[in-house]
Amino acid sequence: MNKFFSLSLLLSASIVTHVHAQRKTIEQRVDSVMKLMTLTEKIGQLNQYSGREVTGPASDRKNYLLNDIKNGMVGSMLNVKGVKDTREIQAIALQSRLKIPLLFSLDVIHGYKTVFPIPLAESASWDLSIIRRTAEVAAEESAASGIHWTFAPMVDIARDPRWGRVMEGAGEDTYLGSQIAKARVLGFQGDKLGGVDRIMACAKHFAAYGSSMAGRDYNPVDISKQQLHEIYLPPFKAAADAGVATFMNSFNTLNGIPATGNAYLQRDILKKQWNYQGFVVSDWASIKEMTPWGFAKNLNEAAEKAIIAGSDMDMESEAYKKELEKLVASGKVDVKYIDEAVKRILYKKFELGLFDNPYKFSDEKREKKVMNDPKYKDVARAAAQGSIVLLKNNNAILPLNKSLKNIALIGPLVNAKRDQAGSWVVYADTTNIVSVYEGVKQKVKNAKLNYTEGTSITDTVTSGFANAVNAAKNADAVVMVLGENWDMSGEAKSRTDISLPGKQEELFKAVKATGKPVIVVLMAGRPLVFDSISAQADAIVYAWFLGDQGGNAIADVLFGDYNPSGKLPISFPRNVGQIPIFYNFYNTGRPVTKPTDIRYKSAYIDAPNDPQYAFGHGLSYTTFTYSDLKLSNTNPQKNETVKVSFTLTNTGKVAGEEVAQLYIQDTFASVVRPVKELKGFEKVKLKPGESKQITFELSPEKLSFYHEEKGWITEAGEFKVMVGTASNDIKLKSSFELK
Ligand code: GLC
Repeated sequence: MNKFFSLSLLLSASIVTHVHAQRKTIEQRVDSVMKLMTLTEKIGQLNQYSGREVTGPASDRKNYLLNDIKNGMVGSMLNVKGVKDTREIQAIALQSRLKIPLLFSLDVIHGYKTVFPIPLAESASWDLSIIRRTAEVAAEESAASGIHWTFAPMVDIARDPRWGRVMEGAGEDTYLGSQIAKARVLGFQGDKLGGVDRIMACAKHFAAYGSSMAGRDYNPVDISKQQLHEIYLPPFKAAADAGVATFMNSFNTLNGIPATGNAYLQRDILKKQWNYQGFVVSDWASIKEMTPWGFAKNLNEAAEKAIIAGSDMDMESEAYKKELEKLVASGKVDVKYIDEAVKRILYKKFELGLFDNPYKFSDEKREKKVMNDPKYKDVARAAAQGSIVLLKNNNAILPLNKSLKNIALIGPLVNAKRDQAGSWVVYADTTNIVSVYEGVKQKVKNAKLNYTEGTSITDTVTSGFANAVNAAKNADAVVMVLGENWDMSGEAKSRTDISLPGKQEELFKAVKATGKPVIVVLMAGRPLVFDSISAQADAIVYAWFLGDQGGNAIADVLFGDYNPSGKLPISFPRNVGQIPIFYNFYNTGRPVTKPTDIRYKSAYIDAPNDPQYAFGHGLSYTTFTYSDLKLSNTNPQKNETVKVSFTLTNTGKVAGEEVAQLYIQDTFASVVRPVKELKGFEKVKLKPGESKQITFELSPEKLSFYHEEKGWITEAGEFKVMVGTASNDIKLKSSFELK
């Protein structure tokens, strides 16, 4: 064995022993605390409450909760933020007999003080480095405010834009969602917990919540084991492999069993198969909700089923507080389940360093220094720019010329600030938010901006149309900013009709009737249906909800200071009737091969099968060509990796970023396979005329699929290889025969 190799072996062995030593030390410390704890104190660690009732004005405070904290009956608080309040509440917890520190948690979903694009928007950037960076900034700001733990990333695969929480995740694709899950976990946590600028992350909602029936929140989920493992679990596994500190279970049932009481999910898969060492927190009162589900007769049975199924911490049900001691006394619950949960929770408190210094995250000076650091604005602008998707750009009407004299800005979201932040913000403070109006004003200081709302988002009147039409008639360029308001997506915001609310599409038609070219900017927390705009607008910019720097980023794109590079992470249906719609569909026994021939085919008689805009779609101000596709091996063994390489060239006049995508199709298998599956992507910036050779690796794992009986397997046979700029725009094709 050569010297270098033996040295590296020695080194890695010492790292392993060091980590084990560290782990052993923490384990020893956990055990030493456990030995001192009474059953009541152990159960205390399993309780989590919202802090709104203990930090408000003294009159509103729930003193019983403050007493519980003082008596060691609370393990964690959520919704307590800021150094002052976290110090105050932690000090109360340290009056308890064993002085076990609290964990402070919060929904830091897309930024703490600096608001970034909603997660679905960021996912449209396909830029793992910016996605990780915004999570890092969120961690830096929240950790400086006394927060130890965020309830993010939400990694639920979602194929139904009626579901309001689609805004919170990474869209419809398992591979993209898994890469983004890893990036977000590492952004929040860093490579290891314990630093004062990183926080625990939480993979949620375990599992398959994005498949809630009919897109209605809190509804049942009924999917096959095959789909559960192949589509919905991999992003959670990616988060676990990235070291995510916690999981959160979900409100839905999975095939009749509530996730909170689902031992198959939380014990068999998560804690056994995946050997997961973190802990599981319930979703808000999800333990108690097993009673209205009809799965538990009462709170006592709900507590019993939840703890045995592997739900370690009880958010807001008070089920564990009220029932666990009785359940142990009656013999219905073995104390080992409680011990296991407590150990997992204490381990994280030690790992964060809270036993050594319970106030380490609550430092007034650091809080002041970190909050709104100007460098974070640049991160917010870059994230917003990269999230914008150019859906349409007829006759290259965009980018606009900065010398324009008169620009009509029309629509209810031109001046939007709170809406730009989207759902799930920590502070609804709009002082840092740049509206589209402000962004354009900043961009073209000499232009006359003629702004008129035309209609509100939910208006049913058209009295404002006349002003809008006049503004358009007298303008050199017409930009409309339309969409949803921030509160039409997010939790408990499912919609049966995902078209533009109110009279916005009518307003568009009235403005378009002037004959002027019309550029439409759409803001929403989900894919919307907007068929007349799709058909008649000259350009469409999908701007989601972009956070603080949205107005500047949109202006950067409109005037060409940023060449749009976003690609859709989710299919846009032509109408609600097509839902669920996704790119990795199955061919069926009667595929539509010619759109004109749909008789007795798997098709609708009133609409095509394909979406309005496909997964992976997004235009640029430049053009790219793909050439020279090569495979390293066209007849690989099952254990061999196939390298897929090709050349990407910027054949246009301006620099730009392209997200090159790799898809495969396993043409024949013992479980039918999708017509294509994303298995690689790379976002590449190229100057005009510049070329780059790109190589993707198709590892054996990427060729496998889930079989109900056999688990993850790979089968010999033909695999098609496709490289392209969108799932419906493949540029290069090849294939190989797996032995
Ligand atoms: C909510 C959400 C969950 C969130 C939790 C705490 O109901 O489902 O995502 O983290 O409660 O706010």
